[in-house]
Amino acid sequence: MSTQTRRFIFWFLIALFFIHTSLVFTIGTDEDNGKELMTEDAQAGKLLYQKYNCTACHQLYGLGGYMGPDLTNMVSSPGKGEMYARAFLQAGTQRMPNFNLLEDEIKSLVAYLKYVDKTGTSPVKKFEINFDGTITQK
Ligand code: HEC
Repeated sequence: MSTQTRRFIFWFLIALFFIHTSLVFTIGTDEDNGKELMTEDAQAGKLLYQKYNCTACHQLYGLGGYMGPDLTNMVSSPGKGEMYARAFLQAGTQRMPNFNLLEDEIKSLVAYLKYVDKTGTSPVKKFEINFDGTITQK
């Protein structure tokens, strides 16, 4: 191999290195697709979720207590949704306590549950392994 070819390969690889590096640092990562849902209501709901210790019995993103069901995607589950959540929060059940929540508190908690629904999936069940070793959730 001539010196010229070797030099060409050398500088070509150096150029590739800089192109790749600049792309990696400027493309950015995925946006948080629930950001616009973290409204003041949802923030208040998050604090209420902590105040009433809902996590003692419920999981969010798969973490929490196991007495009640996982609430991560409760809002978008078929047959459930906002009104369904409201019913539980307003009255409780035999197994879930009635916290005597105010209408405002219920509104905030539901806003928070909607935010959580947009930002995560739990339980994670179906995924596909791509050719490059990354995983895509179906
Ligand atoms: C003492 C444990 C306990 C606490 C604390 C608790 N829950 Fe529950 N929750 C349950 C149980 C158990 C169920 C299932 C009730 C049933 O089916 O009768 C439930 C059901 C629910 C449901 C319906 C879920 C579904 O998919 O069917 C929602 C929504 C909910 N809870 C929200 C909350 C929120 C918000 C809080 C905090 C303010 C909270 N829970 C605090 C035990 C609890």
